[in-house]
Amino acid sequence: MSARPIDHNLVPDKLDSFWMPFSANRDFHEMPHFIVKARGTRYTDSNGHEVLDATAGLWCVNAGHYRPEINAAIAAQLEQTDFAHSFNASHPLVFNYTDRLVKHAPEGMDHVFLTNSGSESVDTALKIALAYHQVRGEGSRIRLVGRQKGYHGMGFGGLTVAGIGKNRTAFGPLLPGADHLPHVLDIERNAFSRGLPPHGMELADELEAIAELHGAHNIAAVVVEPISGAGGVILPPEGYLKRLRELCTKHGILLIFDEVITGFGRTGAFSAAQRFGVTPDIITMAKGISNATIPLGAVFVSNDIYETFMSIDAPGVELFHGYTYSGHPVACAAGMAMLDICESEDLFTRARSLHEFWMDQALRLRGEPNVVDVRCHGLIGAVEFSPRDGQPMARSKDIGKYCYDKGVWTRVIGEAVVQSPPLTITEEEITLLFDTIIDAARNTQ
Ligand SMILES: Cc1ncc(COP(=O)(O)O)c(C=O)c1O
Repeated sequence: MSARPIDHNLVPDKLDSFWMPFSANRDFHEMPHFIVKARGTRYTDSNGHEVLDATAGLWCVNAGHYRPEINAAIAAQLEQTDFAHSFNASHPLVFNYTDRLVKHAPEGMDHVFLTNSGSESVDTALKIALAYHQVRGEGSRIRLVGRQKGYHGMGFGGLTVAGIGKNRTAFGPLLPGADHLPHVLDIERNAFSRGLPPHGMELADELEAIAELHGAHNIAAVVVEPISGAGGVILPPEGYLKRLRELCTKHGILLIFDEVITGFGRTGAFSAAQRFGVTPDIITMAKGISNATIPLGAVFVSNDIYETFMSIDAPGVELFHGYTYSGHPVACAAGMAMLDICESEDLFTRARSLHEFWMDQALRLRGEPNVVDVRCHGLIGAVEFSPRDGQPMARSKDIGKYCYDKGVWTRVIGEAVVQSPPLTITEEEITLLFDTIIDAARNTQ
């Protein structure tokens, strides 16, 4: 962030009422940083400084900022019905929207539960998995398996299966009965891979050890991000996800892909499941689903799961779970308009068309000062720097600041500088993005 003077006409007088999420609040109070305008791939801050939004907000503004079609759909829905809940009633738009949404999902996943965020989607997925086994008379399946370095939102369920220590350690024992697969980051063997890393498929076999330890009949679900995002952009080794699928099927364990980041076009398909040709039993999404305009999340389930619940003997409610805003009509209107955009602009496949170009550009970082790895796929990437002696994360932070001042806002995660731009980004902007990181690497000690 630059130290330019702040335009106080745009800055609130009082900064301590709002407790900022995942932020160094006290640092912010010393040097506030406000975004005051967003258009296309660009943000403007309160100093009038324009930057390329190279992370699409928080991996969520997939169609670029300010889409009048979405704004109009939201306004029209507000005019008509501002809110109708979906507890034994609903709004027709919700059904029309979900019917259209599931047509993009992997074959055999024709049903979707709606939420308001990624965290709610993950907790919903875990609860569906537990209840599914109970309904089928396999109530012993209560254990959950996540993965080291995984991020699954901030609910207690998602935190339980997540694997980033800092996010967990202040919050007690979390849910009982969780295990973690090893993470798949292996810079030594896979540095600068072009696309998926060649080594590490065998790490999926750790599930056998967990099944052996606890008994597979006690395990409900395995949840992984197909590509870990907040853990630092970690790509699945070739064959890894397929192997995980085979093992889950073998042991009767449900496989959940948390696609809150990888969904909605990020990897060049509607879901990474489709991109990588591996179909899980449950997929979570959020973020890009509404282009981040209105909170919305989704949990896609296999037909088998849905039909299992719909054929329960007991009358009445099949799943005692849901949110006041599961199926909020205004969010669904935003989602519907986002589908219009994705379909008419081929946004689900755009990252695939740009994949080779993206990798060419990202891999230009190889050989630049202090760069120890580049991980890239679809329109997601990370450039990993070696840490400064005794100063973890200082170099990546300085690189991030340098890029911001030069007009490119990337995200710093650990020692990596991470990219996930709007899917509407042009080739010129991609070149600018990596030119700027190269410039930063050369000018930062
Ligand atoms: C993979 C994954 N799952 C879940 C979440 C949580 O989403 P939210 O912040 O919308 O609750 C995130 C957020 O970044 C995520 O990356």
